[in-house]
Amino acid sequence: MTSSNQHPRTIVVLGSTGSQGRGVVDSLLHETNLGSCLIRAVTRNVNSAAARQLLHDFQTPDNRLSLVTGDVYNSQSLHDAFRGAYGVFAVTSERTSKRIEKEEDMKHELQAGWNIISAAKSCHIQHFVLSSLPNMKEVTAGRFKKIFHMDNKFIIEQWAKRDLPAVTCLIPGFFFTNLSRPEYCRRENGVVRFCPPIPGSKSVQWLDPVHDMGVFAASRLHPDLNAVSFAPSVFALGILQTKNKNYVVAGPKMRMEDFATIFERVTGQSAIYSPTTMDEWASAASRAVGPGFKEDFCQMMEWVSIAPDDKICYGALDPADDHSWNDLHVRASTFEEWLERTGWTGP
Ligand SMILES: NC(=O)c1ccc[n+]([C@@H]2O[C@H](COP(=O)([O-])OP(=O)(O)OC[C@H]3O[C@@H](n4cnc5c(N)ncnc54)[C@H](OP(=O)(O)O)[C@@H]3O)[C@@H](O)[C@H]2O)c1
Repeated sequence: MTSSNQHPRTIVVLGSTGSQGRGVVDSLLHETNLGSCLIRAVTRNVNSAAARQLLHDFQTPDNRLSLVTGDVYNSQSLHDAFRGAYGVFAVTSERTSKRIEKEEDMKHELQAGWNIISAAKSCHIQHFVLSSLPNMKEVTAGRFKKIFHMDNKFIIEQWAKRDLPAVTCLIPGFFFTNLSRPEYCRRENGVVRFCPPIPGSKSVQWLDPVHDMGVFAASRLHPDLNAVSFAPSVFALGILQTKNKNYVVAGPKMRMEDFATIFERVTGQSAIYSPTTMDEWASAASRAVGPGFKEDFCQMMEWVSIAPDDKICYGALDPADDHSWNDLHVRASTFEEWLERTGWTGP
């Protein structure tokens, strides 16, 4: 926290025009416990429609939000973006502007993570908050060795904890926003079909990546059931209380078939839960990202379909190992809350 006679702190947000980063920008600008921090929102193109929209939606009367050009594959641009900042919210992605032709190509995410950590280290970033995921080779006892987009984030997390003075990780579940993709949800003959290749009786954890990542990184204090009054989150609680901690950002476990029943109840539209085959799922991965992502995408769903029911966070943790509620007093959204908040009425 800053007192009134100190310079306001600067926090850099990567992925600021994407789901998670956008929510974090919004919350940081409105988090009173952070004492009016300045936000540098990193984007590859400060003139893109998404970047201009971010500024339009969240600029404060005292201009505390600025857009800065940065590319996670360009180390100098990250140094320029991080210089003089107190904190960084970092997110990496398995997706790039290039197609992933071979599994080897997935390593680009490690390069991005390495560049981000190196820049944070040389710019003496005091608090580094990372969107990470579990070590799936370990979680699955070696059964699934190709869930690269999760394992790579775990490797980046280990590098960050080794090389930086204070790291806090947020571990998101599945994003409700995935439902805008046809492999998760489509409309067939007027009926909304929820269709990931997971059995209907299986329970999985989801979140609103925009709202919930914002609430966990820097709760926005508004009359909302998700954030109890005066619940300062990771950046506001700061290094002493959140250093080296991981928080699971995911709502209560929900049976997959409940997507249809809850959607029908909230929107009044007909819906079914009917999983696609793994072959269809693999084709969707190839179409969207490239053939090198296929095995990764399929192994993730194969594991989620059989993950132990008594564990949380993709089968990685015992419920008692997640201290989110005790430390932060916030919880992620339910499907009903996401539907009501966003007004989503299906594809
Ligand atoms: N979908 C899920 O269920 C789920 C669950 C857990 C974790 N995740 C993880 O979430 C991550 C994606 O996060 P998201 O959905 O918040 O992002 P997103 O909405 O896909 O947006 C991507 C963001 O990254 C920025 N970006 C892309 N390439 C960049 C580059 N070369 N340099 C700098 N910035 C770049 C984009 O900014 P500009 O275009 O403005 O540059 C944009 O802000 C993935 O790693 C995924 O594995 C997803």
